[in-house]
Amino acid sequence: MNLLGIETSCDETSAAVISGGNGARPRILSNVVLSQVEIHQPYEGVVPEIAARAHLSHIDHIVAQAMHEAKLGFGALDGIAVAGGPGLIGGVIVGVMTAKAIAAVHKLAFLAVNHLEAHALTIRLTQDLEFPYLLLLVSGGHCQLLAVTGVGAYHRLGTTLDDALGEAFDKTAKMLGLGYPGGPAVEERAKSGDAGRFDLPRPMRGRPGCDFSFSGLKTAVRRRIEQIGELAPADIDDICAAFQAAAGDVLADRTGRAAEMFERRFGAPSALVVAGGVAANQYLRARLTDVAAARGLALAAPPPDLCTDNGAMIAWAGLERLALGLTDGLDFAPRPRWPLDPDAAPATGAGVKA
Ligand code: KG4
Ligand code: ZN
Repeated sequence: MNLLGIETSCDETSAAVISGGNGARPRILSNVVLSQVEIHQPYEGVVPEIAARAHLSHIDHIVAQAMHEAKLGFGALDGIAVAGGPGLIGGVIVGVMTAKAIAAVHKLAFLAVNHLEAHALTIRLTQDLEFPYLLLLVSGGHCQLLAVTGVGAYHRLGTTLDDALGEAFDKTAKMLGLGYPGGPAVEERAKSGDAGRFDLPRPMRGRPGCDFSFSGLKTAVRRRIEQIGELAPADIDDICAAFQAAAGDVLADRTGRAAEMFERRFGAPSALVVAGGVAANQYLRARLTDVAAARGLALAAPPPDLCTDNGAMIAWAGLERLALGLTDGLDFAPRPRWPLDPDAAPATGAGVKA
C-alpha cells in the first residue's frame, strides 16, 4: 500500500509518501518538510494566523514535491492521511481540505489522523515493535505518559498539569534571548554549561502518580535570570545546563513511576518509547535510556527528524489505521482539541490546557 500523509497542525508544512503493509517493512518514499521557523522568529513563537496563511500558500507545491520524489502519481496511492487535529485550527483546516480534495478527485481512502497518535506510532515505522509499550510523549504542546496497547488504544497514565516540556524549553530560550524554537538552542548551550551552578526545582518529583508540572521550573529560571542581571555567555550556558538537568530528573522520576503503573495494569511493556519534538534531545534520551535499563527495558526513539512534526508520521499512522479498515468520511470536521485517551479523567491543576 502507498499512502500520502499531510501535516499542517503547527508550524511545519509537510507531505510524505510511504509504502508498506501486509507485513512488508515500511519505506519512506519521500518526506518533505517546510519549516515556518523563519517567519515566526520575529514574534518568538508561532502566530496562528500567519501559520495558516503560510500553510495555504505552500501546501500544493509541498504535496507535488512529495509525489515527485516518491515517483508516484496520485493513481498509485491507496489512501491519503492528514493530521485532523489537535492543533492550530487554521492550519489543520488547510491540511484537511487539501486531503479531502485529493481523496475525492482520485477516489482514495481518507484518513483523519490524530497528530498525537501519529507521534505515538512513529516508532513502529522505524522499527519492529509490538504492543503494548510505555510511551513518553513530549512535544511543544503535550507532555504525557501513555500505555499504548494497540492502534487506537491509548491509556493515559499521567499528563502535565500546566506547561508542556517543549513549551518550557521554548520559554527558557526566549528569556535567555536564544530565539525560537528554543529546544535545540538550549540543548546546544547546555553542552558547555555547569548544571550544578544553579539549584533549580524538580516539580512533582517523588509525588504519587506520574503527572508533570513545569511552570514552577520556568518561574525559577526567570528569577535566576533576574538575579544575575546582565547575562554573560557562561551564565546562559549554566542556566541551560541546570534547566535541562532539572527536566531530566523530573522525566526520569515520572517515567520510572509510569513504568510501575504500566506493569501493574498491563504487564511488561515491550519497550519504553519516547516521541514528540523534545525526544530529539540527546541528553534527555540518555537519561531515559538509564530509566529503561533499570527496569530491563530498551529505550526506543525515532530518529530526531521523525520526532519533530513531519508528514511521514501522519502517513504511517494512516497506514496502520487503513490496515485495520479504520477510514474516515469526507464529512470529518477538523478538531482543535482531540485527546488521545477520551476516558482519562480531566487533569486538574493551575493552568490545565488539555
Ligand atoms: O512535536 P513538535 O515538533 O511539535 C508539537 O507537536 O508540539 O515539538 C516541538 C517542540 C518545541 O517546543 C521544541 O523546542 C522542542 O519540541 N524540541 C526540543 C528539541 N528539538 C525540538 N526540545 C528539546 N531539545 C531538542 N533538541
Ligand atoms: Zn507534534
